[in-house]
Amino acid sequence: MARDWRPDSWRQMPIRQVPEYPDPAALAAMEAKVATFPPLVFAGECERLKAALAEAGRGQAFVLQGGDCAESFADFNANTIRDTFKVLLQMAVVLTFGAGMPVVKLGRMAGQFAKPRSSDVETREGTTLPSYRGDIINGAEFTPEARVPDPRRMEFAYLQSAATLNLLRAFATGGFADLHQVHRWNLDFVARSPLADRYEGLASRIDETLSFMAACGMNSDNAPQIRETAFYTSHESLLLPYEQALTRESSTHLGRTYACSAHFLWIGDRTRQPDGAHVEFLRGVANPIGMKVGPSMDPAELVRLTEILNPRNEPGRLTLISRMGAEKVEAKLPPLVRAVRAAGREVVWLCDPMHGNTTTQNGFKTRSFEAILEEVRRFFDAMAAEGAVAGGVHVEMTGRDVTECVGGAQRLTAADLASNYATFCDPRLNAEQSLELAFLIAEELKANRARPERLPARAAQ
Ligand code: PEP
Ligand code: CO
Repeated sequence: MARDWRPDSWRQMPIRQVPEYPDPAALAAMEAKVATFPPLVFAGECERLKAALAEAGRGQAFVLQGGDCAESFADFNANTIRDTFKVLLQMAVVLTFGAGMPVVKLGRMAGQFAKPRSSDVETREGTTLPSYRGDIINGAEFTPEARVPDPRRMEFAYLQSAATLNLLRAFATGGFADLHQVHRWNLDFVARSPLADRYEGLASRIDETLSFMAACGMNSDNAPQIRETAFYTSHESLLLPYEQALTRESSTHLGRTYACSAHFLWIGDRTRQPDGAHVEFLRGVANPIGMKVGPSMDPAELVRLTEILNPRNEPGRLTLISRMGAEKVEAKLPPLVRAVRAAGREVVWLCDPMHGNTTTQNGFKTRSFEAILEEVRRFFDAMAAEGAVAGGVHVEMTGRDVTECVGGAQRLTAADLASNYATFCDPRLNAEQSLELAFLIAEELKANRARPERLPARAAQ
């Protein structure tokens, strides 16, 4: 029989990636304070997202999850939020057309502050300090003071999340997300792109479709689907004292407890031990949740984790985010997909083509656009070969013109990385690379629709 779950039962379990706060009393005081703050999301919204994810699991919707690797206090301003949201909307329109289905939009935004690290310490020129773990924990500056975990950071992270979410909600329903406007932005992108010829076909078909709908009388004034969009937030559930403090029993969904820091929380590849604290915490909240699945995952362990994290086998509850690296997809992913299918487990499979493709060039952590695209393609191929649904993609991106990933139509090279390398953690696709990826994935999705043998058995009926 399963052990009882409580919002604090994770404290009994072994935990990894935990910051060492020097003042436990200050930490406890901040946890108590955050516990009095209003929730950021509402149970009904989480349930709506779960239903949308269930559709993605059936092959009737496509998920686009994206945003910063790490949000930061320094980059907290309206333009950063607007630009990332704008590019996500632009990508979503292209993908909606390519997939011929609704796109579930899920930001790595409004709370993506805590970072797992491969090493507890960082050494620069002979000096060793604790690693930066994200702005909710310590500071990125390479000084002993900045690197001390400070619980007061949780309060600002909460306030920044609340303000970000407020703006996102306003954008989503206040006119900014209007399909006609988003499409106009895409036409601008296509006109500027070195690959304009390639993207023009798709863009002009979207153009015709919108004109046709307008001619039929469907416009922003009378169709909320054109004027508004649903947008959800997500982040890695890493800093459990903070997550626990924002956990609330629902007043409308009686008997259920929700993590109220975001609609969707995921477990990272470094903290997914079946008997570990992070799995323990998320197994008991009612939100839709995710788990990263890297190349070291074993099929039997994955099935066990799906049982722990989704004991009622609820559709839309559990999203598995594959992050193998382009070279490892073919060998590593099929046995996992097969095991999950054979066990009859309900999951949504997403492809994170970022985290398995990180390299270092000229001293910068980077990723190549071509490797990212290759991982997505191999993911689609593997899912098709297994008769499983490719539910969507998970990307690290920004609306800004950064130079963090090499390649793409702009042909960024290692020599360009220094010109605008702004990330606080992993390298992100810039606005142009993000849109380019969306166009290329849309082409792929569209081609798959024309080949029924590429569609999962259930969806093809
Ligand atoms: C991340 O998503 O930023 C991350 C750290 O991913 P992973 O857990 O897959 O390494
Ligand atoms: Co990352």
